[in-house]
Amino acid sequence: MKKKITIAIDGYSSTGKSTLAKELAHHLGYVYVDTGAMYRAVTLYAMQKGFIGIGFFDIKSLVASLPTIKLVFKFNPDLGFAEMYLNDLNVEKEIRTIEVSNYVSQVAEISEVRSKLVEQQQEMGKNKGIVMDGRDIGTIVFPNADLKIFMTASPLTRAERRFKELQKKGDQVTFDEVLKNVEQRDYIDTHREDSPLVKAKDAIEFDNSTISKQEQFEKVLKLIHI
Ligand code: DC
Repeated sequence: MKKKITIAIDGYSSTGKSTLAKELAHHLGYVYVDTGAMYRAVTLYAMQKGFIGIGFFDIKSLVASLPTIKLVFKFNPDLGFAEMYLNDLNVEKEIRTIEVSNYVSQVAEISEVRSKLVEQQQEMGKNKGIVMDGRDIGTIVFPNADLKIFMTASPLTRAERRFKELQKKGDQVTFDEVLKNVEQRDYIDTHREDSPLVKAKDAIEFDNSTISKQEQFEKVLKLIHI
């Protein structure tokens, strides 16, 4: 039997991390975990409870409510990947809106949120055979991951990609709004005190503004020795 490994994929938003992670997990028969979805679900919860909105954020109430937030990934065979459930409700669509994107980096700055989610992520990966993507997977969640990938692309390339995705979903959003969101999230994600987005020393970097998805997938496969 082949040995099972842990693959950590980190990088900026909309660099194609999840596409690569899903393809790898599918190819290897591994579990795929999108940790961004977990931060997004906590953000949606904070919005629904009225803890966060334009110009205000009641961090204390969110932190006090953390024990009541249940996050579960359920595999959807029709889609071929797992969807996010927040307290037993499928929130896969709601967590991808621009509103959630606008608040999620503020929620991801809170140490209590991070430690709850990191603990759950480590539990999900304890038996290896996992591809996890996020911002701190190779640095904090699985510092001993067998393979670490760090993905970048220019903010313009990423905003164009995100804009197209949101338009396809029928989200009424302007390109400038998306670009602003990408730049703001980059800033907060790389400057926060707790687990900022940094490339792990032993991560392999890919700039996917210049290479195709297929080329990238093939290059990563060559790095896997099992
Ligand atoms: O990957 P994404 O764009 O869906 O992630 C949403 C936000 O969650 C992102 O702006 C930063 C945060 N995040 C994080 O801080 N740590 C992770 N492991 C994953 C996401």
